[in-house]
Amino acid sequence: MIDRATIDRIFDAANIVDVVGEFVSLKKRGVNYLACCPFHDEKTPSFSVSATKNIYKCFGCGKGGNVVNFVMEHEHLSYVEALKYLGKKYGIEIKERELTEEEVQEGNRRESLMVVSAYAQEYFSRTLWEQPDGKAIGLSYFHERGFNDNIIKKFQLGYSPDARSAFSNHALRDGYKKEYLVGAGLSIDKGETLIDRFSGRVMFPIHSISGRVIAFGGRTLKQDKTVAKYFNSPESEIYSKSHVLYGIFFAKQAVTRQQKCYLVEGYTDVISMHQAGIENVVASSGTSLTVDQIKLIKRFTPNVTVLYDGDAAGIKASLRGIDMLLEEGLNVKVALLPDGDDPDSFSRKHSASELEAFLQGAEQDFISFKTKLLSDEAKTDPLKRAALITDVVHSIAAIPDNITRTVYVKECSQLMTIEEDILSTEVAKLRRRKWQDGAAKRPAGETPATPPDGDERDVAPAATPQPVFTHDAYHEAAERELVYYLLKFGDRELPLRNGGREHLPVAEYIMSELQKDDLTLINPHHRRLFDEYGKVLELAADDRAKYFFNHPDQQVARLAVDILSDHYNLTIERFTKSEEPENYKLCRDVPHAILSYKSAIAKQRYIEASHRLRDAKPEQDMAPLMAQLQSLQQVRKAFSDELKRLTT
Ligand code: CTP
Ligand code: MN
Repeated sequence: MIDRATIDRIFDAANIVDVVGEFVSLKKRGVNYLACCPFHDEKTPSFSVSATKNIYKCFGCGKGGNVVNFVMEHEHLSYVEALKYLGKKYGIEIKERELTEEEVQEGNRRESLMVVSAYAQEYFSRTLWEQPDGKAIGLSYFHERGFNDNIIKKFQLGYSPDARSAFSNHALRDGYKKEYLVGAGLSIDKGETLIDRFSGRVMFPIHSISGRVIAFGGRTLKQDKTVAKYFNSPESEIYSKSHVLYGIFFAKQAVTRQQKCYLVEGYTDVISMHQAGIENVVASSGTSLTVDQIKLIKRFTPNVTVLYDGDAAGIKASLRGIDMLLEEGLNVKVALLPDGDDPDSFSRKHSASELEAFLQGAEQDFISFKTKLLSDEAKTDPLKRAALITDVVHSIAAIPDNITRTVYVKECSQLMTIEEDILSTEVAKLRRRKWQDGAAKRPAGETPATPPDGDERDVAPAATPQPVFTHDAYHEAAERELVYYLLKFGDRELPLRNGGREHLPVAEYIMSELQKDDLTLINPHHRRLFDEYGKVLELAADDRAKYFFNHPDQQVARLAVDILSDHYNLTIERFTKSEEPENYKLCRDVPHAILSYKSAIAKQRYIEASHRLRDAKPEQDMAPLMAQLQSLQQVRKAFSDELKRLTT
């Protein structure tokens, strides 16, 4: 925990041009700086950095924020980690809140497990490169399968000597505690002695998202079919198999840049593809994909391409797992490798450009792929055909986005020669059923489980349950507009149109107008900003927006940046585009925004009231409901008349 005073000092010291300039080459354009966006691929620069506001914004992909947001986003760090990074850069000592005894102990144990894992990795690598056995057995095995020295070093591969306790004894002699050697799964406790879990295996360290070693996979070199080909570290306080993807640390930059992640099966697939020049690749390590692994990918990109080796049985077995990717809202494609090849063998046979060209050509949309695959079999068999339809309906129903679903219904109905209406009815039915099941199973107020952390730096900020806002909620756009005027023109004097000589600053005007009708903003981020605006009234105009840009609540900070740099916002466009003097526009458009907001609220209340009337029981007294509806109708009419008056 970093105290508020330190956070403020970091924000004061950190200069966005400096910080961004370390990663991106910036060109000065007027008062701002311009560059190609580091968060998406582009040829013409649309990434803009404002030195005076200390913020950045990309008008291509929409990413924007303050200096801490940038470090978080670019380096994939948590909020606290980003602050520490900047503290270090600007020589600010970070004062952390004192941890409780328990927190200290827990932290110490996790740290100890990571330290011992890092030690083991170095030991295995040293053995591979320096010991006779390591070189003759381990290193020559890697060379034989085509790994070059650079890639072996990059992935920190190693060799564990083929003696019962070689590693454990060495570690004990170097002062590492039995408790941690066993806890990290490196050694197995046999009472008197420790024996090595991985003896005689080549070692693949598994890295956390920030690059620390948290576990290992060890491959046997024996042909003996009775021993498992791979041993993997057991679960521990630092390693949860279902939360980790092999290769994510080495892939994350490339995934972000290319906005695509290849998904393969195993360690060797990842390594061979890297060697061939394709770095945006991760492996589920042989197990079926978990929701947490999918969420990990989603932090970097929504686009996933699953690579299959060309054997049909394997493909069909894994089709179901892919529905999970769809459910998480990812765009899923598949690429089928030629028969007999897996990504590992295929990469070794081809050059980087051949590989790239092949993947581009082979890639197809998942649902159409699946539909075609199954249609071929179902052609002659009506039973299979029914199963095919059910199957495709399942996949389409898994997609959260309405429009995407519609597109697939159309496409698949053609592929399967079935009427579009039938398919879309089936999809809707299934979605309703799933939704009901889900609602029945979920206890009220249940919050999603927080992931066990592979590395404290890797944990996404704890997901606080947020109410869901549909973008078409009547009030959202109007609220946003109010926040815009508050942030951009809060201090401007507004001559009130009541004939008198009264002036009121925009901020005070908006606040009093809402108070008058006992209203408060509904979207919690908007409200948070709005409620805090009272605090900045004493600040100079320039410092007001800055206060929100540098707000410790990341959601608020992002919102402020977003709203102020959102030139495309339709409702505000009218304002920014017109040539009239600003003050003149303000005294028309701010009241207009207030009225739009109020009438949006009135509309919503009217609709709610009409639903209550519709759902009322026959024995209920309707009169009060009718009266309420009528008065809301009058309010709406008054607002819309007033709006008309303002715009004409
Ligand atoms: N795997 C495992 N335990 C096993 C077999 C496989 O954990 N007994 C996991 C490993 O992560 C492995 C992946 O499943 O990388 C894919 O398995 P496989 O294709 O058999 O291994 P490869 O990585 O291809 O290894 P190799 O090419 O050396 O046989
Ligand atoms: Mn293989």
